[in-house]
Amino acid sequence: MLARVIRIAPSLLASDLSYLAGAAEQVSNNADWLHIDVMDGHFVPNLTIGPPVVASLRARTSLYFDCHLMVSNPGELLEAFRSAGADGCSVHVEVGDTSALLAQMRGLGLKVGLALNPDTPLDAALPYLGQLDVLLVMTVFPGLGGQEFIRGPLDKVKLARKFAEDHGLALDIEVDGGINAATGRESVLAGANVLVAGTAIFGTPSPAASVRDIRKEALAALVPGPAYDG
Ligand code: DX5
Ligand code: ZN
Repeated sequence: MLARVIRIAPSLLASDLSYLAGAAEQVSNNADWLHIDVMDGHFVPNLTIGPPVVASLRARTSLYFDCHLMVSNPGELLEAFRSAGADGCSVHVEVGDTSALLAQMRGLGLKVGLALNPDTPLDAALPYLGQLDVLLVMTVFPGLGGQEFIRGPLDKVKLARKFAEDHGLALDIEVDGGINAATGRESVLAGANVLVAGTAIFGTPSPAASVRDIRKEALAALVPGPAYDG
């Protein structure tokens, strides 16, 4: 079995959006990645953060920027996000043109991620798993923070982890939506290793302590124990 590194990725969407650099600073000593939710008002109804904001934040923190592109035209934006300082981007498989988008991200020197909505089967991503750094499995429907965790997608996490192990792939499997210490633990038991959490981190009095709590549960779940059978 390949060693799995747990990464905690606070989602800025749940922070005070007038205070982004401060929010990044609150978690910078404890988090691994900063998850940046980009919404275009088209792929999802909401509108959030674009490249100029990412560039401003880049000047204020050295955290890894994990940009989740919930947009219909990611190909037109990837270069701008890279220039702004994104380390990795995830595009949604539902927007299509996946092969070209993955190649474009690789060419730009970005870590390459592919995201799946809760109702999109793993089959849609299977042909690409060998080309990915990150598989992002949504555990809520994208568009809003603070929604309730959907358990069904953990079956995709299980299958994807098995595929990665069988093929010797060092794949990061990221879950996003409704993650807290308890659902993070369930996700790690299913095979995830990157946990995105917004409300469970920035909605608490101590975001840093919340990152530590989520990590503690996740690491405990990595210790061999009863197999996940959910
Ligand atoms: C949903 C976003 C998530 C969201 C997570 O569209 O992709 O990253 O901000 O927030 P919580 O943890 O509050 O569900
Ligand atoms: Zn996200």
